[in-house]
Amino acid sequence: MPDEAIDCYDDGLISHQFFVFQADILVITITQLQTLKQQQEKIAVLTGYDACFARLADQAGVEVILVGDSLGMVVQGKDSTLPVSVDEMIYHTANVMRGINKAFVIADMPFMSYATAEMALVNAGRLMKEGGAHMVKLEGGHAQLDTVHHLTSHAVPVCAHLGLTPQSVHQLGGYKVQGRDHQQAEHIRKDALALQQAGAQMLVLECVPTALAQLVTAELEIPVIGIGAGPLVDGQVLVVYDMLGISGGHLPRFVRNFMQGQDSIAAALSTYVQAVKSKDFPAAAESY
Ligand code: KIV
Repeated sequence: MPDEAIDCYDDGLISHQFFVFQADILVITITQLQTLKQQQEKIAVLTGYDACFARLADQAGVEVILVGDSLGMVVQGKDSTLPVSVDEMIYHTANVMRGINKAFVIADMPFMSYATAEMALVNAGRLMKEGGAHMVKLEGGHAQLDTVHHLTSHAVPVCAHLGLTPQSVHQLGGYKVQGRDHQQAEHIRKDALALQQAGAQMLVLECVPTALAQLVTAELEIPVIGIGAGPLVDGQVLVVYDMLGISGGHLPRFVRNFMQGQDSIAAALSTYVQAVKSKDFPAAAESY
């Protein structure tokens, strides 16, 4: 335990216990995630929406739990993420926070909750203060630069999200791979650099070709987490119900069913962490 941590506080037992508690559970921080990138150790990320799954993922060694607005589809059964509200995100984030011991938790900012920088600050503040999130995630590139700068200059850590951005599904014309042609790829690459410059400390890249994801990952200092972005990124994320094979319906090629051959959810989650860490997942057939 760092002695100087106790010395900073002279009000005795409560502060002392606070620091012992923090030191004992070794919570994962954004700094540690950046170190994992530098050490070229892959980061295992899963979505989570409740305390039980969050606890199992945390125990399996998942470093980051993303309270994704995918909950609109997999938890609420809606046909897109668009209807999800800030209150619903806060509810699920608080549930996840009660299940974890050490994982870093990111909460999605739902559609229209960051339409202006001021709205974003109010809603991100609620996700952190009422939900307990360590970081918020928002979708989009150059249009979000001012918002990312506004949030990060008010001590709100931001994860950006590029490539297939599901909140823009109606603008994109469906859930399609992005950045296949040179012009689109350059757009994504430049947006990624600009978002980092604006203060984003992590980036999710969804459904882009492996070569583009590799380029962005090499150019960025912040961790790049892929979903359908191939193996050459800093970490992987999947929707937890997809990788357990319980979502139903058509699943994209980047989803592997980790429940197959396992006799418990805990074993499936551990197998996922090992597969990400050992670079067994994703294989070429699970990439674009
Ligand atoms: O909402 C979500 O679950 C996400 C992941 C798919 C990256 O944004």
